[in-house]
Formats: sequence, C-alpha cells, structure tokens
Amino acid sequence: MSTAVPEITFDAFDPEHRADPYPAYRRVRDAGALFPYRFGDVPVTLITRYEECSQVLTGNDWGHGYSAGISPFRDTTAAIPGSFVRMDPPEHGRYRKLVAKAFTPRTIAELTPVAGRVVDELVDAALARGSFDIMEDLAVPLAVAMIPVRLLGGDPADAARFREWQLAIARGSDPDSLLDEGAVTVRGQAAMACMGYFAELVQRKKHSPTTDLLGELVTASVEGDFLTEPEVVGLSLLLLVAGMETSINLIGNGMLALLRNPDQWNLLRDNRDLVEPALDEMLRYDAPTQFTIRVALNDTVVGGHQFRRGDGVVVLTASASRDDRVYPDADRFDITRYAGTRPARKHLGFSLGIHYCVGAPLARLEAATALQALLDRAPDLRLAATDIEYRPSLIHRGVMALPVAI
Ligand code: HEM
Repeated sequence: MSTAVPEITFDAFDPEHRADPYPAYRRVRDAGALFPYRFGDVPVTLITRYEECSQVLTGNDWGHGYSAGISPFRDTTAAIPGSFVRMDPPEHGRYRKLVAKAFTPRTIAELTPVAGRVVDELVDAALARGSFDIMEDLAVPLAVAMIPVRLLGGDPADAARFREWQLAIARGSDPDSLLDEGAVTVRGQAAMACMGYFAELVQRKKHSPTTDLLGELVTASVEGDFLTEPEVVGLSLLLLVAGMETSINLIGNGMLALLRNPDQWNLLRDNRDLVEPALDEMLRYDAPTQFTIRVALNDTVVGGHQFRRGDGVVVLTASASRDDRVYPDADRFDITRYAGTRPARKHLGFSLGIHYCVGAPLARLEAATALQALLDRAPDLRLAATDIEYRPSLIHRGVMALPVAI
C-alpha cells in the first residue's frame, strides 16, 4: 500500500490566517527552504528559511532589476522619483547617503527629548481616560509627530491627512498583482494628494530654508547636481510611508506580544536594561514587515536551486525569524533572547544588506520611549479585548486597534 504524501499549500496570505500566519509559514519552511508560488500571475519562489533569506538579502546577485528592466513584479511604487528602496547600486547609494544623515547618533540624541515630550503628553491624556487604544492614542500620533511633522516639517494640524495617505499607500505596497482595483485607485489618489502637499512644502522651504531632513534635501537639490525637486517630493512620500506604518506597527505588535505574555511584561517592568533586547525580540517574533521581494540580477544558485537572471523571489523574513534552525523554541516570545553575552542571531525585521532599514534608530527611539512610559506609568496595563483585528496588508502586519485598560 502506498502512502500518499500530503500536498503542502501556502495559505499564510489567506484572510482567515491574518491573525496568525506563523503556522502556515512553518508548514512551508519545514517542507523546504524554497517553495514555488504565484504572486497573482507572477511566478515566484518563496524563500522560507533564515540562511537562504540572508543569502539573498546580502548577495550581490540579487536586487530589484528595475533599471536593468528585468523585474517581473509590476510594482508601480518603483517609478516614484527617488524611491531608493527599489533601486540597485550605484543609484541606491547616492540617495541613501543623503537620507542616512537624518539618523546619525547625534540627530537621534537631539530627537530623544522631543519623543519624550510627545509620549508624555499622549500618555497623560490616555491615562486620564482609564482605558485607551494603544494605536490611535499613542503609536499613530507619536509617528505623526516624529516623521511628517519633525523630519519633514509638515503641519501638525494635517495629522489626519498624513495618516490617511500613509495607510492607503502602505496598503498599496503589496505587489500590484495581489491588489484589487479599489485599493490601486485609492493608493493612486493618496499618492497624488501626498505628493502635491510635499511639492508645496518644498517650494516654501526653497524660500525659507529649514534644518529638518526635508529642508536639507531641498538644499541638496538646490546646491547639488543630481537631486531634482520631484525626487525630493518622492523621497518625502517614501519616508512618510516606510517610516509611519512600520513604527506604528512595532509598538502595536510588540505591546500585544508583551500583554499576551504577562510574565515577559513583568520581567521588563523590573529590568529596564531589557528594553532594547525586547525591541529586537518584538521585531523577530511578530515583525511589522513580513517579507520583501528581490530579483536575480545574474544566474545564481540558492538552496541548491539554479535561478536565472530576472527570476523573482519573495524573501519571507517573518518566516526566517521563526526558523528553529537558528532560534531555539522560535515560537516563544522571550525578551532575554537578545540579551547577555551570546545574543541571538540578528533578526530580519529590519532586513539585511544594503537596504537594511535606514530609519531603524528612529523606530527604536519611538518604541523604546513609548514602552518606558507605559512600564513606568501603567505598570498593571492589560489587554481590554480578546478579538484583535488585523489590517488587510500582507507586507505590513499591524492591528486595527489595541484596546487596553490600566
Ligand atoms: C519598526 C519600524 C520599521 C521597520 C520594521 C522597518 C522595516 C524596514 C525594512 C524591512 C526595510 C528593508 C526593505 C527591503 O530590504 O526590501 C526598510 C527599509 C527602509 N526603511 Fe524602514 N522600517 C521601520 C522604520 C522606519 C522609519 C522610522 C523610517 C524613516 C523615517 C524608515 C525608512 C526606511 C527607508 C527609507 C528604507 C529604504 C532603505 C534602503 O533601501 O536603503 N523605516 N525598513
């Protein structure tokens, strides 16, 4: 009698798995390091395990292939001027160098008291109510204050517009082949409105220079010979979307993990040197960015498979970060994993290689400041809901709301 081998299907992206895609990631990861899949009508290979994911992210044979015209992904965001997250060297490095200036240890030190004041005010108001939503009452206004307002010099009174544009564009960061027509239309409208807004701001900054990141980029475009005004506007949109959705979801996903594991919350409350390691564990355990895409720039071998130039892969970083081959008991949320003398291997929550998140220091500052304030001022914080609803994006993972009580 022959034993039928059960066919493995990849269903992590089905809406019913939105609350917990990790068992589905595990199934394909256990089946193999590579898994053939389709992104809509684009055939791709899912890269499921840590070693192979890190090989693709750090290898010179992989990139985005837009300038070479070989990308199979119809990613219209790649056409936004200055959008270096989808560029390959040498163009990528030129833009990244300009933006990285905003995230040096010195600028982060300057931003630290700003984040502290914003968080204090938000937490004061939230605690006065007794119960609140960590997303709308803390994570979202904090991200608005730090990114469109502080980095880009936008008007705080436009907070609702920044959030609306950022959500629509973030939803539209999923590959086009996975989006319905409505999501594509809303993304297009939001991108137009957002670029119009920043184009106006750029004009104002040309006449009255400022020292925020957008002001510096405007100066670079006036003085330098390669950054154009449309690129400055495109970079603003990239920073708004790449910075807001993710840093909001780090606070949401991370707080959810802590509140669902009260022993870890209590441990952190009593050991504040675990705050930084806890952020890494949050990024490993339930990352705001679940995957990224890459294209083979040359014929190359990964996981024993021969890829041809132009082949597309989905690097499932959130699966790699739960790979037991690298992280013992990987499904356990353990804030001590990154502490001590032999911390766990670098997680892929901020990616690896040349596209490693340039805004990571700001994301860490926002989350650490929010976390410290809650640990100090709401030491008995608890979840006030059992059913947690997720946003529909696949690439971004985040909850709609996170109600808590003190
Ligand atoms: C917890 C929060 C964040 C997470 C999880 C996150 C995640 C990531 C990831 C995974 C990438 C690499 C994508 C790839 O390899 O294809 C990336 C790149 C990037 N991130 Fe972040 N990010 C966060 C916060 C921020 C913030 C606060 C900013 C800026 C305000 C920012 C700006 C960028 C930019 C500009 C890139 C492109 C870098 C490049 O291509 O060289 N991110 N981020």
